[in-house]
Amino acid sequence: MQKKYFYVTTPIYYPSGNLHIGHAYTTTLADILSRYKKIQNFETFFLTGSDEHGQKIEKKAIEMQLSPQEYVDKVTANFKILWEKLNIDYSKFIRTTDIQHIDAVKKIFTNLYNKDLIYKGQYDGIYCVTCEEFLTSSQISSEGFCIISGDKPQLIKEDTYFLRVSKFQEFLTELLKTNFLIPESRRKEMLKNFIEPGLEDLSVTRITLEWGIPINEDLKHVIYVWLDALSNYITALGYNSSDDSLFKKFWSNDAEIVQLVGKEITRFHSIYWPVILKSLDLRLPDKLLSHGWILFKNAKMSKSLGNVINPLDLIEKFESDTLRFYIAHELPTNRDGNYSEDLIIESYNTHLANNFGNLASRVSNMIIKYFDGELIDTNFDNSEIFKFANETIDKFQTLMNNYDISEAVHTALLLGQHCNKIIEEIKPWNLFDKKKYDELKNFLAAIRYCITAMTLMLKPILVNKIKLFAQQFGYEQEKIDFSNLNTIKFEKITDKLIIFKRI
Ligand code: MSP
Repeated sequence: MQKKYFYVTTPIYYPSGNLHIGHAYTTTLADILSRYKKIQNFETFFLTGSDEHGQKIEKKAIEMQLSPQEYVDKVTANFKILWEKLNIDYSKFIRTTDIQHIDAVKKIFTNLYNKDLIYKGQYDGIYCVTCEEFLTSSQISSEGFCIISGDKPQLIKEDTYFLRVSKFQEFLTELLKTNFLIPESRRKEMLKNFIEPGLEDLSVTRITLEWGIPINEDLKHVIYVWLDALSNYITALGYNSSDDSLFKKFWSNDAEIVQLVGKEITRFHSIYWPVILKSLDLRLPDKLLSHGWILFKNAKMSKSLGNVINPLDLIEKFESDTLRFYIAHELPTNRDGNYSEDLIIESYNTHLANNFGNLASRVSNMIIKYFDGELIDTNFDNSEIFKFANETIDKFQTLMNNYDISEAVHTALLLGQHCNKIIEEIKPWNLFDKKKYDELKNFLAAIRYCITAMTLMLKPILVNKIKLFAQQFGYEQEKIDFSNLNTIKFEKITDKLIIFKRI
């Protein structure tokens, strides 16, 4: 049975600098899923935010001669500007410095401590500040550097509180045999590299750091950034606060919960986060989608490597819909993708200008030219085109329901290609010359049906441009969904529009 609520989250990003296209990637995918689910009549909640504690942020603030709070206030304000320009319609932007979050995290710690799932001990290990992560030997290169950030990790020996992750060996083995984590390759990697060798307890407090959430149990300790950060997904909904109505809806069994992350933080989300939830007697998300990286100059695009592309520059140059389309279509989540400005341009020209946009302007022009802007008493329900459009819609929905956005977009675009090809074959201008007006009218109406289906499928992506298609064909975009596409009322049209000009 279809669930009522849909909850989608992105990682909360570190304000250790401005965001780049890699962060825009995850957030845009989440936005697309949220908008799609709205069309499917789910009540949705889309969470993003910033991860503001920890050594890395503390260091950065000192460099900038600001207090950590002043520093994070400044940077997160820039996050919000980016999301607005990219048309990211989030429901909430959580900050781990929010008082409500801080109180709720302290209570989570106390709860786990009281259940003896957290205990005091001593940590002896190697820590990467850039990744804010204790490294296992497989994460350190033969020269002694962190394989993700390339930085030199530090040796740390200190008192700490541990979360009893090792108690959950069987639970995690079972979980990672299901399809909770996609893609398959990442699921196998987690099993092989982290679970099968035997799980170790996780250090969840630090004593050498000021900029974190203090625990009530021991004055010297602050909570390790990851326990603090992972909890955001429930504290944002009001878990452990006086108003937990959102939590009751969006973390209930009536909710479909999907979490998007980049592959480098899969371990935290597929091992530690499920352990925390299980320890709190809470349900798990339905799906963890761990996507690949955007590479630039053959390395992961990242602030620490300094090879970043600023999405604001791209929005300025190409408009946000073009960037959203590139992200949705050209960067499938199951592998790494190379960043390329040429690909943004080529993708736009091929799929939006030449295929979809060209189809729409050809057809609306013919409706204006041959039928004075309106098609009356049409009948195309038995046509091949109509059937093909409906099959495409079904396939599109199946793919989107499996969070395969790139393949879903590809499917929608094939419908446009099919229509352009059929127009070349049928040559509607010949039907007009031969005075076959009924045939011509029904043909154009069938193609118009395909175009409206495409606008609906691409609506979660092309959020600005899509409004122009409704204007081009004279209907109200807001009112349509996949169940009433065939009952659209069209007004007479007169405007000739070119929606996607070639770049
Ligand atoms: N603060 C942690 C996440 C805590 S979530 C409870 C963190 N922050 S981060 O600022 O480093 O952001 C990491 C995330 O940004 C990745 O998981 C991914 O979603 C996105 N990406 C950052 N660089 C990326 C690429 N080059 N390519 C694809 N995604 C990238 O980790």
